[in-house]
Amino acid sequence: MSKALAADRTVAVIGAGTMGAGIAQVAAQAGHPVRLFDAVDGAVARGIEGVAAQLDGRVAKGKLDAAARDAILNRLQPAASLADLGDASLVIEAIVEDVSVKQQVFGELEGLCGADTILATNTSSLSVTAIAAGLTRPQNLVGMHFFNPAPVLKLVEIVSGLATNPAVADTVFSTAEAWGKVPVHARNTPGFIVNRVARPFYAETLNLLEQQVADAATLDALMRECGGFRMGPCQLMDLIGQDVNARVTTTVFHAFHGDARYRPSLVQRELVDAGRLGRKSGLGFYGYGEDAGLPSP
Ligand code: NAI
Repeated sequence: MSKALAADRTVAVIGAGTMGAGIAQVAAQAGHPVRLFDAVDGAVARGIEGVAAQLDGRVAKGKLDAAARDAILNRLQPAASLADLGDASLVIEAIVEDVSVKQQVFGELEGLCGADTILATNTSSLSVTAIAAGLTRPQNLVGMHFFNPAPVLKLVEIVSGLATNPAVADTVFSTAEAWGKVPVHARNTPGFIVNRVARPFYAETLNLLEQQVADAATLDALMRECGGFRMGPCQLMDLIGQDVNARVTTTVFHAFHGDARYRPSLVQRELVDAGRLGRKSGLGFYGYGEDAGLPSP
C-alpha cells in the first residue's frame, strides 16, 4: 500500500482555468505548497482570484475561518514558467484537451523535474497511454481525473495507462484520499468510467434539441424535477464548457471507431463556433451575468 504524498511536498498545477484553479485549491487546502502556471498572461491571477472568491464565500457562511483562508491563499503561489516547477513532487496538468500539446508539456517537464516526480494528467478523455508515449519515464505518468467543480465534487478517477507504474497510481490514489476525495482506479479506455457512461446522456439531450422536441430549459427542468438529477444536462454542459464537452465526445467517438452512440452534435458545434462556451464565456444554452440576453438556468 503506497503512502500519500506528505503535505510538505510541493504540488504544481499547469493550467489555471476551470479545473486547474480548483485542483490547486484542493491541494493547498490539504496543506501542500502549490505552484500554479498558465501559458496565458493574467490566467493565473484570474484563477487565484476565483479561488479567493470561493474561499470568501465559505468564510461568509461560517464554514471556514479567515486565518485558514489566508493560509490556503499563502500556500498558492503563481509560477512564471515551467522551469519554476522543477522541485514539485507531483505535477498535475489541466491544460487544453489536445494530446500533442499535453505530450509537449510533459516532455519539457521531464527535463526539469526529478526522476521520482509524478506527472498526472487531468484529461477527461484522451488516452493516458498515448500522452505518455514518447516520454523518457512513461511509468511516472498517470491520469488524475477530477470533476467540476474540483473543490466540491469528491470523485477522482485514477487512470493507469499501459506503462503506468502501479506504485505511482497507488500513491496518487492515497493522495486523493488524503485530500478528502473518493478515488477510484480505472484502466485507460476512452472516456474512462464517468465520461463513458455520461456520453449518451448528453448525446440524447442534444438529439432532442436538434429535433426541436423541447427546449433546453424544459429538458433541464424535467431531468431535475422528475429525473432526480441535481442539474439538467444543458446546465451541466454549460458548466463543463461546450468546447470541452464537444472535444470529449469527439475523442470517444473516434476511439470507438465512429460508434453512432457517441456521434458529436451539430447543435453543440454551432454553440462552440459562436463562442457560446457556457458559464466561462457568459453565454451557452443560457445567459450568465447582467446583460446576457438569454434566460439564466
Ligand atoms: P479551461 O479552458 O478552462 O482552462 C485551460 C487552461 O490551460 C487555460 O487557462 C489555458 O490558458 C491553459 N493552457 C492551455 N495550453 C497551455 C499550455 N501549453 N501550457 C500552460 N497552460 C496552458 O479548460 P478546463 O475546463 O480547465 O480543462 C482543462 C483540462 O481538464 C482538459 O484536459 C479537460 O478535458 C479536463 N477536464 C475538464 C473538466 C470540465 O468540466 N471543464 C472536467 C474534468 C477534466
